[in-house]
Amino acid sequence: MRRVLIALGVRVVTVDLGNVAPFVPPHVGIRPAVAPWERAAAFALRRSVFCDEQGIFAEDDRDAADAHAQTIVAVTYLMGMADRVVGTVRLHETAPRRWTGSRLAIVPDCRATYGLGAGLVHRAVATANAAGCDEFLATVQLPNVAFFRRLHWDKIGACAINGHPHALMRADLAAYPPLASATAATLLAVRRAS
Ligand SMILES: CC(C)(COP(=O)(O)OP(=O)(O)OC[C@H]1O[C@@H](n2cnc3c(N)ncnc32)[C@H](O)[C@@H]1OP(=O)(O)O)[C@@H](O)C(=O)NCCC(=O)NCCS
Repeated sequence: MRRVLIALGVRVVTVDLGNVAPFVPPHVGIRPAVAPWERAAAFALRRSVFCDEQGIFAEDDRDAADAHAQTIVAVTYLMGMADRVVGTVRLHETAPRRWTGSRLAIVPDCRATYGLGAGLVHRAVATANAAGCDEFLATVQLPNVAFFRRLHWDKIGACAINGHPHALMRADLAAYPPLASATAATLLAVRRAS
């Protein structure tokens, strides 16, 4: 092909892609999953993290809460179009004004890049606070307790999920003012290259 192009008079330039840094979109939006592909991508990400990567669930992490839980996604944009789901969390009301959040997951190549984990936690609790919330709980893997403490959560108990130890944690609702718009995307910019 190269020889054909040269014979046709086309100037062929070789680029060493090994020296080109991978493209990192400048912004990620955090908002409820809207399109069916976004929900499907969120479920696929959950399965990849909680089944394949962490082995907490065998083949599928979905449960009864998915029938009514809200799914929040972090989405990269390309030329103004939603392109890739890179993070997710879900939340649901377990009793009047009592909420729980779960299945927080970020794709490996976007961890510690945009502040997505913190952004998704903030969006979930602020969403519940806007809907009416007296308590927001989550069961947290022990290596992530420090992450949640930094986000104004307190440990109030302990439990196990499929034999994996977890901490029961509660959000300080004062740190999560009610969300002004349920649909608008919260934009996060790259904090550091991964
Ligand atoms: C845990 C997880 C959600 C964090 O998401 P993330 O997007 O990488 O984290 P963020 O960039 O939002 O981190 C915010 C801050 O917390 C810190 N942090 C991240 N993970 C942490 C941890 N496990 N312990 C302590 N601090 C942590 C970051 O360094 C960052 O600090 P900075 O603000 O000083 O830079 C992500 O690593 C993940 O998806 N892990 C696999 C799935 C999982 O464990 N889910 C949680 C189940 S409880």
